[in-house]
Amino acid sequence: MRYGNEIIEEVRDRNDIVDVISAYVSLKKKGSSYFGLCPFHNEKSPSFSVSREKQMYYCFGCGQGGDVYHFLQEYNRLTFGEALKELADRAGIVLPEEELSPEERRQEDARVILKNMNKDAAVYFHALLMSKRGERARAYLEERGISREMTNHFGLGYADIYRDDLYVYLKGKGYTDSQLKDSSLVTIDSVRGSYDKFMNRLMFPIMDAGQRVIGFGGRVMGKGEPKYLNSRETALFDKGRNLYGLGYAKRSKKKGIILCEGYMDVISLHQAGFDNAVAPLGTSFTPGQALLLKRYTDQVILSFDSDPAGIKAALRALPILRESGLRGRVLSMDPYKDPDELVKAEGAEEYEKRIREAETGRMFELLKLYEEYDQKDPETRTRFVHEAARKLARIEDNVEREAYIDAAANRFMIAKKDLADLVDRYLRDYRYEKNNAQYRKKPESREKAREKKEEQKNQPQRVLLTWLVEHPDSFPRIRKYVGPDDFLDPLYHGVALMLYDQLEEGHVNPAAIVTQFTDEEDHNTVAAIFNTHLKYAPEEDDRDKALTDIIKKIRLASIADEMSHTGDIVRWQELLEEKSKIQRLELKLT
Ligand code: CTP
Ligand code: MN
Repeated sequence: MRYGNEIIEEVRDRNDIVDVISAYVSLKKKGSSYFGLCPFHNEKSPSFSVSREKQMYYCFGCGQGGDVYHFLQEYNRLTFGEALKELADRAGIVLPEEELSPEERRQEDARVILKNMNKDAAVYFHALLMSKRGERARAYLEERGISREMTNHFGLGYADIYRDDLYVYLKGKGYTDSQLKDSSLVTIDSVRGSYDKFMNRLMFPIMDAGQRVIGFGGRVMGKGEPKYLNSRETALFDKGRNLYGLGYAKRSKKKGIILCEGYMDVISLHQAGFDNAVAPLGTSFTPGQALLLKRYTDQVILSFDSDPAGIKAALRALPILRESGLRGRVLSMDPYKDPDELVKAEGAEEYEKRIREAETGRMFELLKLYEEYDQKDPETRTRFVHEAARKLARIEDNVEREAYIDAAANRFMIAKKDLADLVDRYLRDYRYEKNNAQYRKKPESREKAREKKEEQKNQPQRVLLTWLVEHPDSFPRIRKYVGPDDFLDPLYHGVALMLYDQLEEGHVNPAAIVTQFTDEEDHNTVAAIFNTHLKYAPEEDDRDKALTDIIKKIRLASIADEMSHTGDIVRWQELLEEKSKIQRLELKLT
């Protein structure tokens, strides 16, 4: 589908891309562009660029790029319509209704209804908790030591004992059965009728980072199974990409983010002053959640339960954090079950102390390994040392690996030299394996090579298009030699047609061109097209020469193409003549 109307342009004009992206990525000015760490892949040095002139972003590392709409779509996982809406709101522009396609309108409407319904339900549950009917639930909260302030802060609620209490309430608010069915708040069944999902439970509204209610968790008060019931996923509720408490934690002044296991842990940590605590939503920690955390911090403090399940969860979360470039440390809850119990028994200061003393993720992994082996038995002890060395060999950074060899040698009383030698040995095995794997991957790399060749073929076209965007003054001179039809690749041809139109009108707007390409792959290619610069041409004269070469290459390829197709002998001779003229061309453009 192609967009391209005035309102899209207006909204984009009124939302400077540097300002918008700055709210998500910390950017530094470098030359005419701004640079920062790419939010779409893991990197340690900034290759993510944002240009005010072009109103585009582009990552030289992962190749992701586009205009301000595309950024918001990718970053916040929005549809185009939603990104448009958000930016229009930001600029105070009221969107005319018909700007969305019927399908987009339908999706948008459904989400709005779902959002409202979740909010209505949360308000209802909270009101019930505070009413006479919520007495027992309030008593339970008191028993758990949760303050009135936190009850309000997290919008806790109560679902009553009647089977269709919420259903009747929401029907009264005008929601239809089919809307209710999509919400995971009620079940509508032809045999059993309509009944609430949550009955006689303490309710935890789950909010996204923007504090909108997207689902619920409900706990039985006291003993009973299942202890927690959670909303299933809906168009609004994506369990793998949200975290309980994040709306508050992201604004916390504390260092890092504390990741714990459950709703109750989050609430009691916030109550104790640790307003940087979050928890997954009844599933284990996901890479999507790691990426989410990465927006707000580079350091995660794991505060899982001290039981085997909690240790297992921590051991599973650590590599996920590492993959996302986040540093993870692990808190000890000993002798308590979870952070909730610990802060209640020992207070905030003790918890703070444990944060200071927390083990790094890697050390935690080694310690757990250590505990698995009987250290008094020489045989199992040896196996442990080998396992530890194998683990150490996987640390990519040399300095870090050395530091851990030192630390592990000390901590587990292994002779430093023995351990270092062993690590070296595994390192060699490991590298050998890696090379082998690459060797086996040949067919795939052949595909890559083909792509690369294709890209090289188009390179002159890319350089010229970027040049035209950045130096529109030279357009009249370039136009004489290269026209849109000389861009042979269909995608480039389309881009050139639009850009030449803009140049004729004297209003260059590459972002408007990128928007036309809604196919993800095309979109990124077009973003790359506008971010391709001449290499090795620091001097002006060299630059003229390099540009002339590029113009020659493009025009000559186009001439060759036409000569091979034309059956007209006169045209053929014209082309031949032009070819020799072009070969002698020397341009002054800079
Ligand atoms: N959980 C769940 N279903 C269950 C048990 C647990 O979805 N039957 C999820 C919930 O998100 C819960 C988290 O796993 O918050 C951690 O479980 P647990 O440690 O048992 O709960 P706590 O939050 O510690 O709650 P409480 O202190 O009330 O037991
Ligand atoms: Mn727990």
